[in-house]
Amino acid sequence: MTEMEVKLGQLTLKNPLLTASGTFGYGREFAQLYDLSLLGGVVVKGTTLEPRPGNPPPRIAETAAGMLNSVGLQNPGLGQVIDQELPWLAQFDTAIFVNIAGRKAAEYQEIAACLDKVESVRALEVNISCPNVEAGGLAFGTDPKAAAAITAAVRDATSKPVFVKLSPNVTDIVPIAQAVEAAGADGITLVNTFLGLAIDIKTRRPLMANIVAGLSGPAIKPLALRLVWQTARAVRIPVIGIGGIMSGQDALEFMLAGARAVQIGTANFYNPLAGPQIIREMAGWLENEGVRDINEIVGEAL
Ligand code: SIN
Repeated sequence: MTEMEVKLGQLTLKNPLLTASGTFGYGREFAQLYDLSLLGGVVVKGTTLEPRPGNPPPRIAETAAGMLNSVGLQNPGLGQVIDQELPWLAQFDTAIFVNIAGRKAAEYQEIAACLDKVESVRALEVNISCPNVEAGGLAFGTDPKAAAAITAAVRDATSKPVFVKLSPNVTDIVPIAQAVEAAGADGITLVNTFLGLAIDIKTRRPLMANIVAGLSGPAIKPLALRLVWQTARAVRIPVIGIGGIMSGQDALEFMLAGARAVQIGTANFYNPLAGPQIIREMAGWLENEGVRDINEIVGEAL
């Protein structure tokens, strides 16, 4: 049997597969289908200080090889997440990451300080890459100084590992990745969605109420893989790869490109059993190849 345990700095995951923020809720629906303890980790929906209703519909559209979303960080707010969602999720033996978002640095810091006291939270994922909100989100993730400032604010507020989720919607990912590393990030998650647009030919208008939206799914895999590869060459902290992973083979490509763990997002929508299936496929492929430990292949393609 191939050893599937991975280390992300101080954090150990039983296997490298996490479910991506915003694609898995808090796991309640998926727990009716399989044991969430099979997963290396679960990243919960982007959490803000106050509840948010998100953007008005339409805010989801299928595309030829993926989907567009402009959800706008709908979530029940930090209080409910701490009081109801995290205690429920903590029954499973899987690493809980909380994805956090805010309009300004002080909000990120306040959320991080509150979550620092929640024992079941293993790591924070700082969302500076949501393309669907007016304030915060992408505005922080496209500028190295702003990205570093948010990272440093969160770093000051918590002793938990801090992963920063970056946007692919930049000319050069390297200075941003290096800025968050220098500001104290323990790791980087990338990529969030690519900015896209859908047009309704009947109304002759943009389909989404928010006009632009984020593209995910198999269409973005080669683009995401390139960004992971470039980032893994440029930083020393661990990278978590995400972008169109649909199979064990896809996930292994990201690990060969330097990712120490992976997240699956859009796959959860079309196949709710994708998580455990992809873990099995990764382990099966590695066993067939005679690889004893998954860590042996990390970064082989760098
Ligand atoms: C959303 O809620 O709009 C998606 C979250 C994200 O892209 O970070």
